[in-house]
Amino acid sequence: MKKSIKATTALAPVPVVMVSCGDGKESNIITLAWVGTVNSEPPILSISVRYGRHSYPIIKERGEFTVNLVSRDLVESTDICGVISGKDEDKFDFCHFTKGEGVAVRAPYIEECPVALECKVVKQVDFGTHAVFFGEILNVIADEQYVNEHGTLFLPEGLLAAYSGGKYVTTGEALGSYGFTAKKIQRKK
Ligand SMILES: Cc1cc2nc3c(=O)[nH]c(=O)nc-3n(C[C@H](O)[C@H](O)[C@H](O)COP(=O)(O)O)c2cc1C
Repeated sequence: MKKSIKATTALAPVPVVMVSCGDGKESNIITLAWVGTVNSEPPILSISVRYGRHSYPIIKERGEFTVNLVSRDLVESTDICGVISGKDEDKFDFCHFTKGEGVAVRAPYIEECPVALECKVVKQVDFGTHAVFFGEILNVIADEQYVNEHGTLFLPEGLLAAYSGGKYVTTGEALGSYGFTAKKIQRKK
C-alpha cells in the first residue's frame, strides 16, 4: 500500500557541502544541502541560499563562490557551519580551517576539504524562500591523492558524506558503476 503525504522537499539523498565566499576578512562559510549539477559543457552547478543568510549578499555582490566537498571526518565542522552565522563568528577561525588562496576566483577554499569547485555566478533565479545561484565551475582544486593519471578525480568509496532525511550519512560502498548493466542488456538482445 502506498500513501500520499503533504508535498515537501523530500529529495534524498543529497550532497552536503561547505560553500566558501567573500574574500580577505569578509570571507564566510555556509553549509548547503540544496545543491545540484545542472550542465556538462560548460560545467554548471546550482546552490540554493535563503535570502536572510549572511552569505546571500556576499555571493550576490561578489558573483562567485567555492563549493568544498565534505569528507566524513569533516561532518562536525560542516554542521557547525550550518548552525552558526558569519554575522556572529568567523567560521574559518571557529573550525580551525586553513584558507586556501583561490585560483580562478577571489573566494578562499577550505584546505581541509578534499575537493573544491571554484564557481562564477552565471545566473540567479529567485524563488519564494531561496535564491538559486547557478555557478559555472571555472576550476577544480583537489588533493593530489584523489587525481588519477588521466588528470580526473578519483574519489574512494565512502570518502564523502551525504545528507538524507535530516541525517549526515556516508556514501558507503559502491553498488555498481555508471553503465554497469550495459553489457548484460546487450547479451539479452
Ligand atoms: C545540513 C545542513 C544543510 C543546509 N542547507 C542549506 C541550504 O541548502 N540552503 C540554505 O540557505 N541554508 C542551508 N542550511 C542552513 C545554513 O547553513 C545556516 O543557516 C548557516 O548558519 C548560514 O550561515 P551564514 O548566515 O553565515 O550564511 C543548512 C544547514 C545544515 C546544517
